[in-house]
Amino acid sequence: MEPEDVEPGDAIHPGRPVVVDRYRGAARINHWVTATCLILLAISGLSLFHPSLFFLTALFGGGQVTRAIHPWIGVVLFFSFAGLFFRFWRANLPTRTDAVWLSQASDLLAGHEERMPEVGKYNAGQKFIFWSMTVLILILIASGLLIWEQYFTWVTTIPQNRVLVLTHSLAAVVIICVWIIHVYAAFWVRGTLRAMVKGNVTGGWAWRHHRRWLRELVSVRKVSP
Ligand code: HEM
Repeated sequence: MEPEDVEPGDAIHPGRPVVVDRYRGAARINHWVTATCLILLAISGLSLFHPSLFFLTALFGGGQVTRAIHPWIGVVLFFSFAGLFFRFWRANLPTRTDAVWLSQASDLLAGHEERMPEVGKYNAGQKFIFWSMTVLILILIASGLLIWEQYFTWVTTIPQNRVLVLTHSLAAVVIICVWIIHVYAAFWVRGTLRAMVKGNVTGGWAWRHHRRWLRELVSVRKVSP
């Protein structure tokens, strides 16, 4: 058993139809603020990326406003994601089971989840997404600050600036792909979305997808009377 899989907020309520708490309200607000920022950044960033997408700036009140607010939304995303990072990094640390889980990923995709090893709070795929988001957000904030003309262009030369713009754009494309996988997984695994909406999951969901986490919750007696 790995106690780091259990976090504040995780609990079981056996009195009612078995429901397992997964996220507290603060964690959910933190998550949805981050998600909103990423969506706004993707739309505003794409609108400035290519002339064919410039029409999207209308959503923010025009080109100049979009150019002005895009970096500020990035700053909010950075701090908001930092909140998620410090809440969840421990539960996303790799374990030996992750390698086994990954080596059997084809079973999962073929619909044979029962053949997979028991999973803690997060599976290897979720952990991969978590660390990818972490690295990409660090690249995006660092490159984004350095190409922020209003405050920081004096720090870099024009050739450096070109490399940074390219880095920023590539990292943005990759994080949009990672985000699409994250959202797809949230809908694909039925019953997952309610974890981030209501804060809890059914006992069946926990047993089926994160059995080791459920066992751990029971063993540390986080069971409400
Ligand atoms: C509209 C878009 C999004 C949806 C529908 C969504 C949905 C979800 C759901 C359902 C969970 C719970 C998964 C579980 O407990 O097993 C979750 C967890 C999480 N989400 Fe999102 N999410 C979205 C956007 C984002 C964005 C943009 C980020 C970060 C940039 C993000 C970061 C996270 C993190 C860090 C977790 C905790 C899982 C972990 O630590 O591995 N999400 N999301």
